[in-house]
Amino acid sequence: KALKKTQQELNAQATEESPAGQSSLGFVPTMGALHDGHATLIRRAREQNEVVLVSVFVNPLQFGPNEDFDRYPRQLENDVALATEAGADIVFAPAVEEMYPAGAPLITVSSGKLGTMFEGKTRPGHFDGALTVVNKFFNILTAVRGKHSIYAYFGQKDAQQLSLVQRMVHDFNHSVIIKPVSIVREDNGLALSSRNQYLSSEERENALVLSRTLALLREKEITGRISESDLDMAREKINSTPGIRLDYLEVVDPMTFETPTENSQQVLALVAAYVGETRLIDNMELH
Ligand code: PAJ
Repeated sequence: KALKKTQQELNAQATEESPAGQSSLGFVPTMGALHDGHATLIRRAREQNEVVLVSVFVNPLQFGPNEDFDRYPRQLENDVALATEAGADIVFAPAVEEMYPAGAPLITVSSGKLGTMFEGKTRPGHFDGALTVVNKFFNILTAVRGKHSIYAYFGQKDAQQLSLVQRMVHDFNHSVIIKPVSIVREDNGLALSSRNQYLSSEERENALVLSRTLALLREKEITGRISESDLDMAREKINSTPGIRLDYLEVVDPMTFETPTENSQQVLALVAAYVGETRLIDNMELH
């Protein structure tokens, strides 16, 4: 009953349930294959809003030609169960044709310079595609929300995406308030990800070097500044782990994703690496 597949169904539901007076809609955009990281976003939305909507949509626009769009895990029935269990009222799971009825759109969002760095460098077009679909969801929900304010929940796991979405909301005057949520990890430190499903048990073990190396850098940061040689050592530690190929390990100011300066409010260590065939990302706040 929670599952809606078209904007028309969404519209009908929204007008039925929209209560009088001020209330809020919590929105959690996802690509499905939901895990406890997603559930944490949904539970947070549940605590803070009257109505909670989770979208499940594997967005073709944000996958490169040699990426995993076709084999990305799709498990809608499980996702609806997990989302409603975590507190979702509505699960919006449109077909590709519902979101892109004319095929690939002519007009898309451009993610600018920030969209060409780090993840955007290895995955050209990824952030343009992600922002384009988030922009569409924001517009769809703004149209059906009635008197609700919209709060949208994004995980810090995808730090660059979060930063870009915040910039888009500002640059495009979206009436949406972004709520960042901390990274959810397994007890052993591995950041939860839908792509962890691709890992063999051995690869899962090897992948722990990513979060462990970030944690080591954080320890270093507490006792002093991180030097270029600390970073090189950390890179070497990851690269010398069997089955792992480092893409990048860098320390940045999350406002700009440039090298931190004295004025940086926050410093973030970012990592991306291939574990076998699977590309994983992680990050940690150093201060
Ligand atoms: P997806 O990878 O499914 O992630 C959906 C949301 O869950 C994102 O905001 C992501 O940062 C958050 N998330 C994933 N793993 C997390 C973890 N371990 N801890 C905290 N949050 C976590 O990100 C996307 O989908 C797409 O790009 C999307 C925004 C839906 C646009 O298509």
